[in-house]
Amino acid sequence: MTSIGTEKKKSSTITVITLAVLLLVVILTCVPYLVSIALAEGPATAAASPIFGVTIPAGYKQWELIAPAEEAAPLNELRAVVGNQTAIDAYQDGKLPFPDGTIFVKRAWKRTQSPDFASATIPGAATTVQVMVKDSKKYAATGGWGFGRFINGKPVDEAQHRTCFACHEARAKGHDYVFTRLAP
Ligand code: HEC
Repeated sequence: MTSIGTEKKKSSTITVITLAVLLLVVILTCVPYLVSIALAEGPATAAASPIFGVTIPAGYKQWELIAPAEEAAPLNELRAVVGNQTAIDAYQDGKLPFPDGTIFVKRAWKRTQSPDFASATIPGAATTVQVMVKDSKKYAATGGWGFGRFINGKPVDEAQHRTCFACHEARAKGHDYVFTRLAP
């Protein structure tokens, strides 16, 4: 073999090694991103409620207020029921039963005394986020409503989800199982 041939062989070996090292660096750089994507997608599917498969709807913190509510001790909570546009339109048009696609979210916080003003009550720590989704076919067995109760973004157990419809049915059947009326 000539010395030029050996030189060529050497430099192509170096090129292959360089490319292999570069590839390894790229792969290692990607691993944390791939892991974080996998983790971020994991809880998204895990965050569906048992029985109903209801999830916390995106952007609900920007939804319109339907009415506030207050819960006495021992829960001692301030609440705000908000709805998506379908819900708001249904109230404004006096539509009952609520159409498919209606979603209600009940936000809740510990009732806390304002540090700035003695008689004022303000929201403390968030407690639960509760959701009702109308789909008359999918949830035919529960008046057309799917339920979800979440604490820190995670759904509570199945036993708690078995209580939802019973209470809404017993007390709010005449208003399509929905308690809250549009605040004047
Ligand atoms: C013991 C009765 C009771 C049970 C059980 C119950 N709710 Fe309710 N729910 C209410 C009352 C009363 C309201 C009216 C707002 C308020 O006072 O907080 C309400 C309001 C709501 C609202 C706002 C729409 C509406 O109907 O006014 C949602 C959403 C909701 N509940 C979800 C749930 C979910 C999810 C469960 C089960 C995990 C559940 N509820 C279990 C009594 C109950």
